[in-house]
Amino acid sequence: MIPTLEWTQEGVRFLDQTRLPLEETYLLATTPDEVATIITTMVVRGAPAIGVSAAMGLALAAKASAATSAAEFADSYEASCRLLAATRPTAVNLFWAIDRMRRVFAGLLSSGSSMEAVRTRLEAEARAMYDEDIAACRSMGRFGADLLPDEGTVLTHCNAGALATCGYGTALGVIRAAVEAGKKIHVFADETRPFLQGARLTAWELMADGIPTTVLCDNMAASLMRQGRIQAVVVGADRIAANGDVANKIGTYGVAVLAKEHGIPFYVAAPWSTIDPATATGEAIPIEERSAVEVTHHGGRQLTPHGVGICNPAFDVTPARYVTAIITERGLLRAPYLESIAQGASAAQ
Ligand code: MRU
Repeated sequence: MIPTLEWTQEGVRFLDQTRLPLEETYLLATTPDEVATIITTMVVRGAPAIGVSAAMGLALAAKASAATSAAEFADSYEASCRLLAATRPTAVNLFWAIDRMRRVFAGLLSSGSSMEAVRTRLEAEARAMYDEDIAACRSMGRFGADLLPDEGTVLTHCNAGALATCGYGTALGVIRAAVEAGKKIHVFADETRPFLQGARLTAWELMADGIPTTVLCDNMAASLMRQGRIQAVVVGADRIAANGDVANKIGTYGVAVLAKEHGIPFYVAAPWSTIDPATATGEAIPIEERSAVEVTHHGGRQLTPHGVGICNPAFDVTPARYVTAIITERGLLRAPYLESIAQGASAAQ
């Protein structure tokens, strides 16, 4: 399995995704500050992977602390929670993971735990989230594989694969499961300007698994759809509002509109930690604006004239009416999403 991130005795080891596909190198983080930098610089990225990374960063905070009790550690733990929460605004998995780690710590604090108990418990919780993430991806794969054609071409946008999770992937997990079930799937991977997650990461990880993959520039999907060369679309998500609106990598909305125009099913695969019932609609989802340099430069080389205006929103929102189904680890959600999401959320309580 692709080692996106891993808890080790020395710290958390991250596969450096900024250097893929040409170099497979690793960075070791031993403090929450280092994990925060690793998230903001996109060494690790993808909503579920960001969430688990933050949880592991909080476990590292305990490991690195010289405090002797939960009470003594509390202020610095809260500072680490805030630092990690400020890294990227759109993927709700980040806040979900930090809240879960906050709740665990609150229990330790109220029971007057020793620092040794805090270290052990926070590490266990972060590692449990890692295992749960892989299990959720496999479950999404089982539910989603049936939706894909027995033989055909599936378009995906960005990277919602093993590299965006703790392993296996959400959208790419569905494709992997379909291939494991004997389906003959050819993947078309949008290159995903400007950070090229599709061209660099999706292509790299699918090729590692021997799944036939073709990279296309983002402006080519429309023409391929019109020619009948794409049978389904599967993407991931960074946040799904209570009404089923989906925030995902910039460009996803355009793909969804095109899919509807051409009668192609548009599926979103995401764990429940990506569903945010507290956000009523896509309008309220915060969209990260990233550095202009990602657009003006490539590989250190300037592409645009000095001083030109640059727009670089990292995500867009696809209204729920374009989404054929949401594939979760608990099963498929269909419209009306306000109802299916509310039902799914209450079934789990
Ligand atoms: O900016 P990124 O690379 O973190 O964006 C990633 C995406 O948009 C993914 O599609 C999303 O996080 C789902 S990952 C399973």
